Amino acid sequence: MDHKLQVATKITEALAGLGVQDFPFEKVSSMLETPPNPAMGDIAFPCFQLAKALRKAPPAIAAELAGAISGAPLKEVQVAGPYINLFLDQHVVGTDIISAVLTQGNAYGSSEDGQGRNVPIDLSSPNIAKPFSMGHLRSTCIGNAIANIMEKKGYTPVRINHIGDWGTQFGKLIVAYQKWGDEAKVKAEPIKELLKLYVQFHDEVANDPTLEDQGREWFKKLEDGDAEAQHLWEWFREESLKEFMKIYELMDIKFDSTNGEAFYNDKMDRVVTMLEERNLLTESDGAMVVMLDEFDLPPCLIKKSDGATLYATRDLAAALYRHETYDFAKAVYVVGGEQRLHFQQLYKVLQKMGFDWAYEMYHIPFGMMLKDGKKMSTRKGKVVLLEEVLAQAIADVKKVIEEKNPTLANKDEVARQVGVGAVMFHDLKNYRLNDINFSLEEMLTFEGETGPYVQYTHARACSLLRKGNYQPTTEPTLAEGALDSKEAWAVITALSQFPDIVDRAAADFDPSFIGKFVIDLAQLFNKFYANVRILAEEEDVKQTRLQLVAAVVIVLKEGLRLLGLKAPEEM
Ligand code: ARG
Repeated sequence: MDHKLQVATKITEALAGLGVQDFPFEKVSSMLETPPNPAMGDIAFPCFQLAKALRKAPPAIAAELAGAISGAPLKEVQVAGPYINLFLDQHVVGTDIISAVLTQGNAYGSSEDGQGRNVPIDLSSPNIAKPFSMGHLRSTCIGNAIANIMEKKGYTPVRINHIGDWGTQFGKLIVAYQKWGDEAKVKAEPIKELLKLYVQFHDEVANDPTLEDQGREWFKKLEDGDAEAQHLWEWFREESLKEFMKIYELMDIKFDSTNGEAFYNDKMDRVVTMLEERNLLTESDGAMVVMLDEFDLPPCLIKKSDGATLYATRDLAAALYRHETYDFAKAVYVVGGEQRLHFQQLYKVLQKMGFDWAYEMYHIPFGMMLKDGKKMSTRKGKVVLLEEVLAQAIADVKKVIEEKNPTLANKDEVARQVGVGAVMFHDLKNYRLNDINFSLEEMLTFEGETGPYVQYTHARACSLLRKGNYQPTTEPTLAEGALDSKEAWAVITALSQFPDIVDRAAADFDPSFIGKFVIDLAQLFNKFYANVRILAEEEDVKQTRLQLVAAVVIVLKEGLRLLGLKAPEEM
């Protein structure tokens, strides 16, 4: 199926025929290049490296070797100085690729590489009583897409929302609520109200320094299971989760586990004991730490002097729990770049404990979301609530639909799919480590490199199939010459690359490979549509071209699905 590999085999055989040694298949495949422009062929083979073996100048070698290469899937072999330019037979390759897509459907590009093994993916993980930040949005979108991609590679992803529901801040929040809180207000707008209380607490500390101690006391009470503290904490948690759920529902994202930090409270003693048994704990100013000097890292704090455990302790317990529960092939953490040190320390501590599986843990950081070139702040009341952003995006798309396609059925659902998709796609089309600029206007345009553009292209292609009365088939017989245009060829070539793109996205845990791919495919398809007649052709030519369109529909929809976006058939 892979035509490049077939060509590599032919060249390898031709070289062997000329008596050249030391140029096995792998080496030949790695030497293949893609010519800078399509007029120079689909594949180029440079002959410089052969000069020594054959004791001839590269152009002479190219001429000799070219004469020994022929046959399907090749149509033509040209010599261009020291290069051999190889042209694939569009009919042969087109038939292969289109058949593969039409028979496999959305399984095109899938593989069993992962053998069903588990890959827990730590994603989203917002903090209770705080707004769902843009960073959490990025973690949610990227993590969900990575889960879909790993699933396509044959792994079993486990989506874990490691909710930030424990820590000293809850002591402060309890104090603030008891002093200034109002139950009705918290119920009405939990996140806004709890954030306000938290901010107020920090403002008041200047006047009343004892507040800090009160906060610490209440956190201690919470850790010791005090009924009042426990009750308030549970309530804050519940109200916050309800708010987060609204966002996940809009994004259509589900989790396999929402075990947050508090879930590990009764699992930390064991970690401390294990560290003690291995003589890894050192006392430092009354606190317990694991030294990481040999890795040039600061010590990892395990227990504070007052006995309170920390974020890192909970993550150690969580890692052990995930290993024991899922026996994972890889464990992935999709968390912002600011926590790089935390994860380095986590892995090193586990490695020092003698756990080889810690080498299969990956922190997948991502860049920041900026607004007007600055970090978006969730503090100091300048909150951009994600829920409001999503609502705005949906409303804007709804307006466009009302204008352009007022008779569309299920307008609201399509507006949600496109509006929310726009926000998600914006997060996924760029290399994940890049900082990205937040601009609703840019996300929502139907013409740029956006989610709506790809979704709209998919809908256009669907409508073309309807209008042309496409006859679905899984064994296309292409009318000779019907796909000879350079536009059709560019689309076929792109389709052939999809399995490779999925591989790369999985290997690098980077959904942007898929994001860029669907933009490219959409653009190439639109060029094809603009330049090649489809509907006004003879039936066999029309059906052949529609088969290509049908293949594009399948791959665009699957690419969007991997990114977590829907592909409405009409919009
Ligand atoms: N709640 C944390 C935050 O908002 C992210 C948690 C990431 N996951 C983890 N296992 N540490 O910063």
